[in-house]
Amino acid sequence: MSFYNSIPLLPNDPILGLPLIYAADSRKNKVNLGIGAYKTAEGLPLVLNCVKKAETIILQKHYNKEYLPIDGHKELIEDTLQLIFGKDLAQIGCDRLYAAQTIGGSGALRTAGEFFSKLIGRNIFLPQPTWPNHKSIFEKSNLNVGSYPYFNTHDNSLDFKGMCQAISNLPPCSSILLHACCHNPTGVDPTIEQWRELSDLIKKKKIFPLFDCAYQGFGANLEEDVQSIRTFALDGHEMMIAYSFAKNFGLYGERVGVLTIMTNNRESIPKIGSQIRTLIRGNYSSPPLHGARIVSTILKSRELTTDWVTELENMCGRIKEMRKALVAALLVKGKGKNFNSILKQMGLFSFIGLTKEQVDKIRDEYAIYTPSNGRINLAGLNTLNIEYVADALLSVL
Ligand code: LMR
Repeated sequence: MSFYNSIPLLPNDPILGLPLIYAADSRKNKVNLGIGAYKTAEGLPLVLNCVKKAETIILQKHYNKEYLPIDGHKELIEDTLQLIFGKDLAQIGCDRLYAAQTIGGSGALRTAGEFFSKLIGRNIFLPQPTWPNHKSIFEKSNLNVGSYPYFNTHDNSLDFKGMCQAISNLPPCSSILLHACCHNPTGVDPTIEQWRELSDLIKKKKIFPLFDCAYQGFGANLEEDVQSIRTFALDGHEMMIAYSFAKNFGLYGERVGVLTIMTNNRESIPKIGSQIRTLIRGNYSSPPLHGARIVSTILKSRELTTDWVTELENMCGRIKEMRKALVAALLVKGKGKNFNSILKQMGLFSFIGLTKEQVDKIRDEYAIYTPSNGRINLAGLNTLNIEYVADALLSVL
């Protein structure tokens, strides 16, 4: 007899399950284009120098390891608001904002989802396609999860018309998930004019925006990448922002995130805070300390901040080079096929509409690993494997 006999086996996670399958593959020419983490030109994980320096400073301070408050590290939260809103913070008003540190961006999304379903509305709508974990996070937050068109598969561009039509028909008091920049998986973002139109429409339709901001600095630059959020904030939306420090500080496993909630009724701030703290306490009690200390140590120091910005620009520079090199390699042997849409995409990923069958084929025949949605992590490319990857892609496209 076992209590576990009737437990069904579930499939591996489509993204976090991949490194395990990749590691078990003994083929020498294997290429990992799966999980959305930066890799160096040598294919290795990167710990930023500013992070190493911050860790040395932290060690020398002999800090204690007491619990953080339920809503986290105060300086990290102040730094996050500064990164998101910059010079617009004064105009937006700190007294319109409540923020709490969370377990990564995913923890911020889950806390946002639970807060919304408990206190505001029943439905959330996600772009089609989106990061696969969004659906799971919001279903587990007791929300009805729907979708809206986002990507035009005919020319790999934004389906802005379809998106606006769908938003016009959403039930009021629903939430809409928006990727602040570097849309995951497509790399296709609205222009600033389109963000303005979206802001007007979403406000008119009484829809509640939830921004997922996981790639600030990976698109155009730190400022432009959050223009979407600033546009909505200056337009007076009530909304939430789930922020991740995984990618732009390379702090993946440290799980550093912040949830920011914006209200037009300043008197609701203590009530919002009490609800969020109660949710966090019931879920995981309080957030982790080390990653928060690293980020706030860097952002408190002018010198380390300069180092961070330079290192972030270097990571993005290499990704942009790989994007161009992939397109160049595809064009050489692509028999007139047009790959220009890849050049317009932003951030870590490229999306060229690979089907599940094509993904399986490049894995089985070429040992090239992407998630089943066909998203390509450009940081997995380097001068040694790029032609091999281009040939494999052309063989299935
Ligand atoms: C990704 O999209 O690959 C990353 O955000 C890692 C993850 O948690 O899925």
